[in-house]
Amino acid sequence: MRAWMCRRYGGPETLTLETVPQPRPKPGEVLIRVVATSVSSGDVRVRALRVPAGMKTMARLALGFTGPRRRVLGTELSGVIAAVGGRVTAFKPGDAVIAFPGVAMGAHAEYRVMPADGRIALKPESMSFAEGAALCFGGSTALHFLRRAGLKQGERMLVIGASGAVGSAMVQLARQQGAWVAGVASTANLDLVRSLNADAAIDYTRGAYLGTGETYDVIADAVGITHFSGCHASLNEHGRYLSLAGGLGDMMARPKGTRRSIAGPAAERKEDVAELVQLAAAGAFRPVIDSIVPFEALPDAHRRTDSGRKRGSVVVEVSEA
Ligand SMILES: NC(=O)c1ccc[n+]([C@@H]2O[C@H](COP(=O)([O-])OP(=O)(O)OC[C@H]3O[C@@H](n4cnc5c(N)ncnc54)[C@H](OP(=O)(O)O)[C@@H]3O)[C@@H](O)[C@H]2O)c1
Repeated sequence: MRAWMCRRYGGPETLTLETVPQPRPKPGEVLIRVVATSVSSGDVRVRALRVPAGMKTMARLALGFTGPRRRVLGTELSGVIAAVGGRVTAFKPGDAVIAFPGVAMGAHAEYRVMPADGRIALKPESMSFAEGAALCFGGSTALHFLRRAGLKQGERMLVIGASGAVGSAMVQLARQQGAWVAGVASTANLDLVRSLNADAAIDYTRGAYLGTGETYDVIADAVGITHFSGCHASLNEHGRYLSLAGGLGDMMARPKGTRRSIAGPAAERKEDVAELVQLAAAGAFRPVIDSIVPFEALPDAHRRTDSGRKRGSVVVEVSEA
């Protein structure tokens, strides 16, 4: 099979399309023919070893010194079950599925083996393969942070970076959980943010939106441009600051009175994949797709994600549905 390999940290030009042995499913595993995948902010962070401040050495230890140990990137995919190993009853060849390898990666390939009882779910017919491939990275990160925030119905929330993969999921999921949500975006993306059911869309090009007297119960920074120290004054009593892209500083930040900072890597749970699929099937969550590129042009998808300007997810078409 063909797979995009990342043998050393660097720009998109370091990626190489190679022929590698096709994996075989062991007992309890399924072999998925990948139809679509995404190039996420997580993929480009690993490719370029672009990590939050103070975490480079830790990242090299975890990921690899000169290049990632897991050479095939790609955290999420949609596809069709090509074969099943022994003891697998939940899936059969021909089933359309959505899977979330997450930090284990390996989705930028024509085939990926997954544990049948892992982060994998049947794809609802109402979802395209492209949507399925864009469901999990942003969606599960948003669910994780909303859960850690303990978001309550009727609370006021501000999402900075509401047009990105995580931010666009967070706006929709927080609205779905009954919060009042304002999304921060550039002028060109305000309509997108409104289409996600946000109560307010704030244009960051028109000046400061923090320290204006407006206060929130939860502020989520899905860009990495603020710190708890600059946001706590805009939080209500018992307010929570969610630092999605934060470094050690935000992870270690002490509470300020009743206000606190929440940071760190998002958990990857099969329950969250199931919940996202269920919400998508019910029409309550729609992953935003920035663009779709062919498999052979996957480095272009990295360039688009590197730009920091994508709206939702960049999807890569790997094979015919
Ligand atoms: N903690 C975790 O486990 C975890 C998991 C997943 C992701 N993350 C992190 O979360 C962050 C967001 O990820 P993502 O995939 O959503 O990123 P993304 O899709 O690449 O975000 C791009 C979006 O950010 C917007 N943006 C850029 N500058 C902005 C600004 N100053 N104010 C408001 N919006 C701005 C852009 O809109 P404009 O072009 O209009 O500015 C664009 O739509 C990344 O740093 C990622 O590494 C963390």
